[in-house]
Amino acid sequence: MARDGQNEAGPHGPFRPSVPSCTVGDLVSASHLDSLLAKLEERSATVAIVGQGYVGLPVAMRCVEVGHQTIGYEVDPRRVAMLLAATSYVGDIPDEQLGAALASGYRPTDQIDDLAGFDVAVISVPTPLAEGIPDLSFVESASNTIARVLRAGSVVILESTTYPGTTDELVRPILEATGLRAGEDFFLGYSPERIDPGNATFGFVNTPKVVSGVDASSLRAVDAFFSTLVDKTVPVKSCREAELVKLLENTFRHVNIALVNELAMFADDLGVDIWSAIDAASTKPFGYMRFTPGPGVGGHCLPIDPSYLSWSVKRRSGHPFRFVELANDVNEHMPDYVVQRVTRMLNDEGRAVRGARILLLGFAYKAGTSDWRESPSVAVAELLAELGADLRGADPYLPAGAVLPANAALVEASAAEIDAADLVVLLVDHPEFEPDALCRSGALILDTKGALRNRSFRGETL
Ligand SMILES: NC(=O)c1ccc[n+]([C@@H]2O[C@H](COP(=O)([O-])OP(=O)(O)OC[C@H]3O[C@@H](n4cnc5c(N)ncnc54)[C@H](O)[C@@H]3O)[C@@H](O)[C@H]2O)c1
Repeated sequence: MARDGQNEAGPHGPFRPSVPSCTVGDLVSASHLDSLLAKLEERSATVAIVGQGYVGLPVAMRCVEVGHQTIGYEVDPRRVAMLLAATSYVGDIPDEQLGAALASGYRPTDQIDDLAGFDVAVISVPTPLAEGIPDLSFVESASNTIARVLRAGSVVILESTTYPGTTDELVRPILEATGLRAGEDFFLGYSPERIDPGNATFGFVNTPKVVSGVDASSLRAVDAFFSTLVDKTVPVKSCREAELVKLLENTFRHVNIALVNELAMFADDLGVDIWSAIDAASTKPFGYMRFTPGPGVGGHCLPIDPSYLSWSVKRRSGHPFRFVELANDVNEHMPDYVVQRVTRMLNDEGRAVRGARILLLGFAYKAGTSDWRESPSVAVAELLAELGADLRGADPYLPAGAVLPANAALVEASAAEIDAADLVVLLVDHPEFEPDALCRSGALILDTKGALRNRSFRGETL
C-alpha cells in the first residue's frame, strides 16, 4: 500500500497490502488496521467521545445505537452527574434517549482512567475565539488527555471545527510525544461535524460525513468508523482539506447572510420589500440560494468559524480575508440596526425608548434550540437596556430560572405580556411564537425574522 494519502485501493476498497513495497512499519500498521476494522465490524470496539456537548453527546448516542461500547468523557463534573441521572442538557437529545443509552451501556465519566483501552477516540470540544484569535486550548488539553491512554492500534479523530493544519501540527505532535507514530502505531484523522441543531430533516445520520486521515491507513480507519454511524461518508485527500471544508461551508453561509442583511437595510431606504424580493428571487431554479435577513448571527459556528479561516489566511499569507471581515462587520452591526428600528417605531408613536416596556421574543441563536451562545438577542437586549428600556424576555426553550442579559425579566410569551408591551420585538421564529396570535394581539411589533410577512399586523418587518 502506498503511503502519505496515496491509498491506491481507495477508502472503500478491499485492504490488500502490496508486500514487495512494504516497510516493517507498513506491515505493523496493516495488522493494526485489520484488527481495528474487524472490531468495528463486530461492534466490539470501545469508542470514547471526548466532550459531551451539543456535538459530542449526539455522536455518543448514535454510537450506542449502532452497538459500540461507548464512553462519554466530559471534564465538567456537573454535566457528568446530569448524564448519569439521564437528565439531558442538549435540546436534540431527550431524557428518555439518554436513559435508554445508559441502560445499553453508555458510560459518562470525568475520569481519564476510564478511557484506558479505547479503540476510537473522537475529540468534540469547544474551539472558541479569545479576543478574536483561535483558542485551541481545549483541543490541546483533550489531546493531552488522550495521549495519556493512547495505545497501538487505536484511532483518534478530531471533530472540533478548526483551521487547516490543526490535526497535523497540534494534535499529531502531542500524540506522537508518547513515542507512538501516527499512521504506523495508531491512526489519526479529522472529520468535521456538520449537524444543524433543531433541523428535523437533516440530522447526524443522513448528512454526509467528510472524513480524512494523516495517511491512507488512517483514512481507512476514520472512514470505517463513521461508516458504522452515518449513511454516507465523503473521503477527502488530507486533514487540511477536511478542515477547510467545514470553514468553507460556514463562511459561505456567513457571507450570504451578511449580503441579505446589508441589502435589507438598503431595501428599507429604497422603499422595497426585501422579503417579497427574496421570495421572487427564490423561484429561480438554478444559480440562486435563499438566505434571509435577521437580527445578526449567533451560536457556536457562524460568528466564530469564519474568523478561524481569516486568522489562518492572514497568518500564512499575510493577506486579510476581506469577505470574512466585511461579513463580520455587517452581521455584528445588525443588533444596532434592530435598535435603530425600535427607536424609530417608538418615536413614531411619540415615545422614547427610555421607560418603554419592550418584550423581546426569543433568546436562542435560532429557532428550535435552547443554545443562546453569541445570540444577537443578547446584544439587542444590552443595547436597549443602555437606552433605559424596561425589558422583558420570553423564550420557551430556555430553562426556568435562566438569567437573561441586561436584567431583563424572563416571562412567558402570554397574551397579557404581549398586550402590556409598548413594543414587541420578534427576534427568533420559534414555532411557539404563533404568528396568528401575534397578529391578532394588536401589539406594536418589529418582526426581525419575516415570520409575519404577508399578514396583517401592527408594525414592521425588518
Ligand atoms: N454546536 C453546533 O451546532 C456545532 C456544529 C458543528 C460543529 N461544532 C463544533 O464542534 C465543537 C464542539 O462544539 P459544541 O457545540 O459541542 O460545544 P459544547 O460547549 O456544547 O460542548 C463541548 C464540551 O466539551 C467539554 N470539554 C471541554 N474541554 C474538554 C476536555 N479537555 N475533555 C473533555 N471534555 C471537554 C465541555 O465541558 C463541553 O461539555 C466545536 O469546535 C464547534 O465549533 C458545533
